[in-house]
Amino acid sequence: MNILILGSGGREHSLAWAIKQNPKCDRLICAPGNAGMDEIADCASIDILNGGAVREFCAENAIDFVVIGPEAVLAAGVADTLRAAGILTFGPSQAAAELEASKSFTKEICLTADAPTAGYARFTDATSARAYVQAQGAPIVIKADGLAAGKGVVVAITVEEALAAVDDMFDGAFGEAGASVVIEEFMEGEEASLFVLCNGESCLSVGSAQDHKRVFEGDKGPNTGGMGAYSPAPILPAALEAEVMETMIRPTLREMVKRGTPFQGVLFAGLMILDGQARLVEYNVRFGDPECQVLMMRLGAQVLDLLLACAEDRLNETRAAFADDHALTVVMAADGYPGSYEKGTAIHGLDNLPSSSLQEVFHAGTANRDGQIVAVGGRVLNVTARAESLRQARDLAYAMVDAIDWPSGFCRRDIGWRAL
Ligand code: AMP
Ligand code: GLY
Repeated sequence: MNILILGSGGREHSLAWAIKQNPKCDRLICAPGNAGMDEIADCASIDILNGGAVREFCAENAIDFVVIGPEAVLAAGVADTLRAAGILTFGPSQAAAELEASKSFTKEICLTADAPTAGYARFTDATSARAYVQAQGAPIVIKADGLAAGKGVVVAITVEEALAAVDDMFDGAFGEAGASVVIEEFMEGEEASLFVLCNGESCLSVGSAQDHKRVFEGDKGPNTGGMGAYSPAPILPAALEAEVMETMIRPTLREMVKRGTPFQGVLFAGLMILDGQARLVEYNVRFGDPECQVLMMRLGAQVLDLLLACAEDRLNETRAAFADDHALTVVMAADGYPGSYEKGTAIHGLDNLPSSSLQEVFHAGTANRDGQIVAVGGRVLNVTARAESLRQARDLAYAMVDAIDWPSGFCRRDIGWRAL
């Protein structure tokens, strides 16, 4: 079959890498793609936020299956446009993507479904939000309701910080996303993520992961999209995962069906775990980046069968096969990220690295300029390895990092520290 993957990050490169290994995949096209995807697939420059443009591209290229990576594409309703045209598509509708696009929507769903999460209140004016903060005290969490590129959350340690965050949001620091503000109880614990393929009320876990959001070692410095990840997450053993499926995922899916907006795609549950109990921090409606890279490394070619089973509503008869293994990815980013950084710096040494089912460098912000791979984004490479133990996977990944010659890039040297 002919398959189109939408997106251009490390997440999409790892999806392409796994899908390409499946004999069902004839032609693979990535849009817009990056230099890494260009090595294993055709890349097409289409405006992926424009559902009509994607639909026409699919018709012209006899595309049988579309896999959507980024949330912005889902929030733009591209999956709806494609499905309305009869094109098999992996990814939720615009209405179901509200689970990521609106924090108050998710909170309401959890409340109705009795899914465990932090207590909250929603405000549309600063005066009542400030009064609520004063009454609740700190620590407390202030969130812009809408999509704010992962930056709309302030974990306030003091009441003063919380009040300042409330004022910032209502003063427009996050634009429209901050016109409504969710204030949440602060949850203590350790974070982990669970990834579940869903269609209506059917669901199938495809694994857990933990990422490293802060830019510097020891979890210091500003938040990023993620500087590294590993799978599985030891803090989420099978029994707890099963409990999360029963008390959180299935009730959420039932409530979405009840509202007439069934969810189809991958539900990414961000969990806070304390004393063996998990509560929901947030849902995302897509694979995590870089979490996807470690999941793909563990699952390999079967990913295409799993995504097809999801899109074709056959999850109930499908199983994911896991080896008893561990995968770890180290993100290499451009100096200065997540602030400003230089573009166009040359990366050497990639050609000499082994590429196998146990180790691969997934590209994110890269381009090929006359045969030279250059960095064109903040997060640039995802150096990924799989092994029998997490320690071995980590050592393998860092050996690859050390073989990459990119003076303008950096990475954290402590990926996996929590589990190790
Ligand atoms: P979110 O965008 O909702 O995932 O929030 C970003 C980060 O803020 C999370 O990964 C947590 O580290 C933290 N966070 C969000 N909500 C809470 C909460 N209620 N209690 C503690 N930490 C939180
Ligand atoms: N790595 C976190 C995310 O993809 O949202």
